[in-house]
Amino acid sequence: MASNHLTGIGAESKQLATWYFTFAAIIFGAQLLFGLVIATQYVMPGFLFEILDFSVARMLHINALIVWMVFAMFGSVYWLLPDETGIETVGIKIGKLLYWVFVVAIVIVILVYLFIQVGPATEMSIWFIHEGREYIEAPRWADFGIVVVALGFVANLWFTGMKGKNSGIVTVLMADMIAFAGLYLAGMFFTDNISVDQYWWWWVIHLWVEATWEVFVGALAAYGLIRMIGASRQVVEMWLWIEVAMLFGSGILGMGHHYFWIGTPEYWWEIGALFSALEPLPLVAMFIHVMYDWGKQQGKLEAQGITDSTINNKPAFVWFWMNAFGNFLGAGVWGFFHTLPQINLYTHGTQFTSAHGHLAFFGAYATILIGMMYLAIQGTNGIKVMKNTKASIWAVSLLVGGMMGMTVALTIAGYVQVIVSRAQMGATWAAYFDGQAGMWFAQAMDWRLFMGGVMFLGFALLIKDFLTTGKNPVHVR
Ligand code: HEM
Ligand code: HEM
Ligand SMILES: [Fe+2]
Repeated sequence: MASNHLTGIGAESKQLATWYFTFAAIIFGAQLLFGLVIATQYVMPGFLFEILDFSVARMLHINALIVWMVFAMFGSVYWLLPDETGIETVGIKIGKLLYWVFVVAIVIVILVYLFIQVGPATEMSIWFIHEGREYIEAPRWADFGIVVVALGFVANLWFTGMKGKNSGIVTVLMADMIAFAGLYLAGMFFTDNISVDQYWWWWVIHLWVEATWEVFVGALAAYGLIRMIGASRQVVEMWLWIEVAMLFGSGILGMGHHYFWIGTPEYWWEIGALFSALEPLPLVAMFIHVMYDWGKQQGKLEAQGITDSTINNKPAFVWFWMNAFGNFLGAGVWGFFHTLPQINLYTHGTQFTSAHGHLAFFGAYATILIGMMYLAIQGTNGIKVMKNTKASIWAVSLLVGGMMGMTVALTIAGYVQVIVSRAQMGATWAAYFDGQAGMWFAQAMDWRLFMGGVMFLGFALLIKDFLTTGKNPVHVR
């Protein structure tokens, strides 16, 4: 994010945003590398044996995922706040200090994971090594640090929102971020009953990705469309409110789809089935939202005889576009596939879940956050109209193509498990291994690794583009 054109109101907030984006990009790279390690271990179980164990590398892969996304989300807020409120972010000095607290905590946590890979699970390990809760494994000391950072962040957002101009986007973000930060607390306390533990753990995981984060994405899409194509604020904010209502309406009780088999009462079957089946609706609405605004804009321009597009940031626009598709496909379609208890009985915990998990996280979140990074690169380098470069086009093609390939491979592997392990052999221990011994499963694992390599290449080109597009704009289209 080279040469700095950030001056005037909000320059400090935007600079902090670029710090957040930079660390996010580094951790994204680490996430992919750990993904490649575990995908290799799937096909060559001896790979890095006793150097980097599967369980640890997997933990690093998915915790890095959450960390980079949270960093990019905080960065996005610090980026858009001055544009929306018309003032510099209140408490920006504290914001910058907290950024470093956050970075140092994360780096220490990662190093501890890497250096202490085996040992007993005790009260001490919960405090200093990890909590053993998938996706949010940070040890308790780091949890408290994260809470302090999150409180500071939410305070900055609120004080700025209340002092500056009032916009629907900021109002939604203010409410959403309280819920986002507050839910983290549900994953912090200890119970020795695994069902109770899982019950609360899902409050964080599900209510993040299927409620608060989705609302966040709605706000980003609204902001992005206004910035990139000059969409009408009235229209995008109207959509935003509709989506907020729909997302909370279906997402909150939709949590029932995780309460089918963990010892929770059986009424969750009906509640989970009904409300989670409704969850794709807001995603369709978000999809239509982007298409509608763009179509409307194009129509207006064509009526004025302007055929040359006026999108002022093409690479960002492409990524926002991918978000509309990706969210709908990964969360909506792949989520719907296995959300009814009658089907989930067979698919639960197979590679099918992983197929959905990958495409949903990538489609709904990675895409739009990369889009926000492009908006920041445009702003930081003072580029009026940012075009695509060869690297930006290759990056999006390889990342998206690789992810789609991986999803297809995992879906096939999942079907093998559903049919062999569950339907034919009745979910026994032996069935579990038989399901993974077949040719289709093994080949799918090879393809997943290959597609991971394709993604990594795309990532390398993305970083190259980030670093060069501002300085040396060799634009193609
Ligand atoms: C962007 C939004 C979403 C993301 C990021 C996401 C991600 C994930 C991930 C990572 C898992 C696996 C969790 C684990 O480790 O056990 C999961 C499970 C699940 N998701 Fe989603 N999801 C999203 C939206 C949806 C939607 C909209 C639906 C339903 C329509 C859905 C249905 C499910 C179901 C039923 C499971 C449980 C699978 C099992 O039986 O193990 N998801 N999701
Ligand atoms: C180089 C590319 C990648 C490779 C090779 C890769 C590989 C893997 C592997 C081998 C696992 C463990 C699956 C298991 O335990 O059976 C995994 C889990 C996971 N990965 Fe990736 N991954 C990659 C990129 C990504 C990306 C870009 C995302 C999201 C944006 C992502 C999200 C996840 C999630 C959510 C899980 C947990 C899934 C579950 O338990 O259902 N991965 N990945
Ligand atoms: Fe869920």
